[in-house]
Amino acid sequence: MALMNPNKALWEKGDFTEIAAVMRESGEVLVKSLGLTPPLQVLDLGCGDGTTAVPLAQLGADVVGIDIARNLVEAGNKRAAEAGLSRLRFQEGDACHLEGVDDHSFDLTLSVFGAMFAPKPFDVAREMVRVTKPGGRIVMGNWIPNDLTSFVSQLLKISSWFTPPPPEGFVSPMTWGMESHLVERFGRAGVPRENISMVKDTFYFISPDISPSEFIESFRQFYGPTMNAFEAAQKEGKAEELNRQLVESANAQNKSSDGSTSIPATFLRVTVSL
Ligand SMILES: C[S@@+](CC[C@H](N)C(=O)[O-])C[C@H]1O[C@@H](n2cnc3c(N)ncnc32)[C@H](O)[C@@H]1O
Repeated sequence: MALMNPNKALWEKGDFTEIAAVMRESGEVLVKSLGLTPPLQVLDLGCGDGTTAVPLAQLGADVVGIDIARNLVEAGNKRAAEAGLSRLRFQEGDACHLEGVDDHSFDLTLSVFGAMFAPKPFDVAREMVRVTKPGGRIVMGNWIPNDLTSFVSQLLKISSWFTPPPPEGFVSPMTWGMESHLVERFGRAGVPRENISMVKDTFYFISPDISPSEFIESFRQFYGPTMNAFEAAQKEGKAEELNRQLVESANAQNKSSDGSTSIPATFLRVTVSL
């Protein structure tokens, strides 16, 4: 029997489409802000069910969405078919090793909170550079560690207090939100420092239909990393304490005053010019 890939298992465990449903507005805003003029070949890496891949294709780009989770690839292809987007296809693949993807295939490689979750960051940087055309660009959206203004940073930090330490050699995905790591990783892939720019940007989780505590409940039920944190906390009899802290954080960050959810999350927007 083939060995289970824990990175794949983590993202197939839940159903990220339930979280992505509250990320659509910011996905569209981010795509519009890229200033793209098709024709363009675009790779959306760690694309989920197409929060950015769908609006990219709606702009007229030819888009390949690659994701490690089979269920999300299926969900993405269903959304593309329903929207009649023949220029968009989703396929399974691993950001650490983009098997079957030719060198210099894409004008833009985009990865919004996607490739940062792959376990071998140096391989990821090398692969993103390899598949992007010279003269093209890589754009990443990465969560920032210990950022008090980022709901997701807080969610992952609180969750880590309730989870056993990761195995030796584990590299935190949050390191993709740190300048020194970005420069080192892309540097090893042959990109000079002056070709890398970083700015802080904000993503919003928006739903008129759910409260912040229902929003946390959807993470508890559907978001692999949070599901794992709750399982670990449950074993220690601390699941309700974890829930309390997450709801408190979501309420504190919520900008909506009518009981619905509008939670901002700061992230690092990284642009690499090749
Ligand atoms: C937080 S979700 C973001 C999804 C999407 N970009 C969005 O903004 O809605 C992280 C995504 O990265 C994918 N992912 C994690 N590790 C990956 C890897 N090694 N290769 C490709 N995709 C990966 C997950 O399956 C998941 O869809």
